Amino acid sequence: MRIKPALIVCSKVALLLASWGVVGYALVAYTTKPAGATVHPEMMRAFQENLPVVYAHVFGAAVALIVGPLQFFTGLRARWPAFHRALGRAYLLLGVGIGGVAGLWMSTFAFGGLTARAAFATLAVMWLSSGALALRAILRGDAAAHRRWMMRNFAMTFGAVTLRLMLTGSFALKVPFDTAYPVLAWACWMPNLMVAEWLARRG
Ligand code: HEM
Repeated sequence: MRIKPALIVCSKVALLLASWGVVGYALVAYTTKPAGATVHPEMMRAFQENLPVVYAHVFGAAVALIVGPLQFFTGLRARWPAFHRALGRAYLLLGVGIGGVAGLWMSTFAFGGLTARAAFATLAVMWLSSGALALRAILRGDAAAHRRWMMRNFAMTFGAVTLRLMLTGSFALKVPFDTAYPVLAWACWMPNLMVAEWLARRG
């Protein structure tokens, strides 16, 4: 099945708007209110005890969500390759590197018990390792493998968006937060990764 170019552009724009929407939430919430003021009181308590790691995660990972969608626009990549490389470094070092290590740390005290903690820790390890594999591929000059690893990596970055969309859906369906959260901690990134894998394999 061939995907129409217009549909591809629309999907990329939708990805960008949704990503920047969540970044907007994160930046406003964590610069104007005490950390965790917008989430569950138990999460806020844990955030207040771990402020440096929370801020490193929120502001680090935000870089990945700001920059990531831009990297998939073919025109930008082709016209300004040096800009693509500079954004790529920021994405991997600040976004995935700092955001991922801090995210892994935060998984140890995440809300939702062992199920949610295991989900976030798995996500963090896969996020960091797929970022490292994408970097290794491009340093070796293997652009095709780099592209595939970045698609998988961004699918996980986008988990931050799908988590919040799914949480909104679960609120609308009146599912209690502590029931929904451990399930969504897994469900927010697995479908993304499956779509990315499908797209990466079709070349
Ligand atoms: C993809 C890898 C990611 C992992 C493994 C991860 C991990 C985590 C963990 C464990 C928490 C604490 C949750 C809790 O206490 O229950 C958290 C919270 C948070 N993360 Fe991430 N995260 C990732 C991506 C992102 C991205 C890309 C952003 C973009 C801004 C982000 C923004 C936040 C924010 C704002 C919070 C605080 C909770 C809230 O206000 O919604 N995360 N993350």
